[in-house]
Amino acid sequence: MSSQSKYPTSLFSSNLTFTGENENSGVLAIAGCSGEKLVKEFGSPLFVIDQADFFLRAKSWRQVLDTSFGGGQLYYAAKSFICVEVAKWLKELKLGLDVCSAGELAVALAADFPASDIEFHGNNKSESEITTAIKAGVGTIVIDSFDEITRVSDIAKSLNKTQKVYLRLTPGIDAHTHEFISTAHEDVKFGFSIASGAANEAIKKCMEQSSLNLTGIHCHIGSQIFEVDGFKAAAQRLVAVLATFRDKYSKELPELNIGGGYGIAYTKDESAISPDVVIPAIASVIKAECAKAKLALPRISIEPGRAIVGPTTTTLYLVGTTKSVKLDNGSERRYISVDGGMSENIRPALYGAVYSAFLANRTSTAKLISSRVVGKHCETGDILISDINLPSDIKAGDLLAIPATGAYGRSMASNYNHISRPAVITVINGTARVILRRENEQDLLNLDVDQPPRQIS
Ligand code: LLP
Repeated sequence: MSSQSKYPTSLFSSNLTFTGENENSGVLAIAGCSGEKLVKEFGSPLFVIDQADFFLRAKSWRQVLDTSFGGGQLYYAAKSFICVEVAKWLKELKLGLDVCSAGELAVALAADFPASDIEFHGNNKSESEITTAIKAGVGTIVIDSFDEITRVSDIAKSLNKTQKVYLRLTPGIDAHTHEFISTAHEDVKFGFSIASGAANEAIKKCMEQSSLNLTGIHCHIGSQIFEVDGFKAAAQRLVAVLATFRDKYSKELPELNIGGGYGIAYTKDESAISPDVVIPAIASVIKAECAKAKLALPRISIEPGRAIVGPTTTTLYLVGTTKSVKLDNGSERRYISVDGGMSENIRPALYGAVYSAFLANRTSTAKLISSRVVGKHCETGDILISDINLPSDIKAGDLLAIPATGAYGRSMASNYNHISRPAVITVINGTARVILRRENEQDLLNLDVDQPPRQIS
């Protein structure tokens, strides 16, 4: 279905070219910049964002939202990947921004991103985060718990402000994705359950707070979802809550946020769920349910992260070592070690996520053999790709490219083994520039301090 979309659904960024006689190897260029030259110039591993592709994807989602709902708001999910430059792009695109920590908020504010277009998420925002957000003039705080209703209300009161808020609801949907990124069934830490009555109780409590202006409800059913049914069912249950609200308070909540979670391709056998498939499907449910309940169509917002930034980025690695092992069944497995690993891409180790890779500096016609791409961390589970067929002549010094690594790669990166986090560069029209520099050893050492003990007891 999504292959008929006019929007890109493959795993490659739009301006990635790969010249070779087969699909497992070739000379890679992104926006006209050769992969090999990029690594020579900026080092490896390297996250390479195809900037024009980022704009294309962001605009696609925005456009489909407009055509499906006649407006609304797109809050880009900063957790998928954010830095000051990307926040500037989002500002230029006139999009909103979903942040979930003081750190993400600080990046947005450093980019002069308009606070009124920011929504603040999180199941356990600290008092200091709430205070900072309200003082900064954040547009919407998405309240996640009963404790937080009181907390946000008290802080807003103390600052003499009325804060616009949404309530995050769990519609009881079992989204078909990895357990750790499924968020809307009953047994999760997020939000107020609709089924248990907690949602209506939270609405009541919110309505009693003079410093809170409840304008809408929110749900996010999970991440990396390909089926539209979960989104549709969630939308239907949220509209039912809007109707109950209207019946009780004789006025309507004007806004409805249906979250993010739209799946992308990580291998060539997958294709992304495209905006023009999923958003109109959700729109038709919301419109029908609103008409049935005689509700005005609320202002709809969505929060895609992965679907915008994920496919824009390719990670380039240099191969350092290779070795072959004999398996119990008599077959061979070849290990290809690259100069990064689980510290800049934890997703395979954490979720069993599957990626694809290509030899990116030359064409090889060597036979394809069963290979495992691993990192340089001191851990057996430091596997980037567990099993992939790659040319048998891959050797130290070769360049390996892993596409679709823009989301939850750099943003979840760690310094495990005191390895510094890679640089992120953007390429466009044959030019490249660094937007997040590579960490160096001094960055890592900067946190070590030598202080005298302080009396505490
Ligand atoms: N809105 C809310 C409230 C969220 O919690 C998330 C993701 C999003 C939007 C964006 O979801 P997206 O469109 O990017 O799927 N680290 C995991 C994904 C965790 C997602 C957490 N929340 C992964 O690497 O797959």
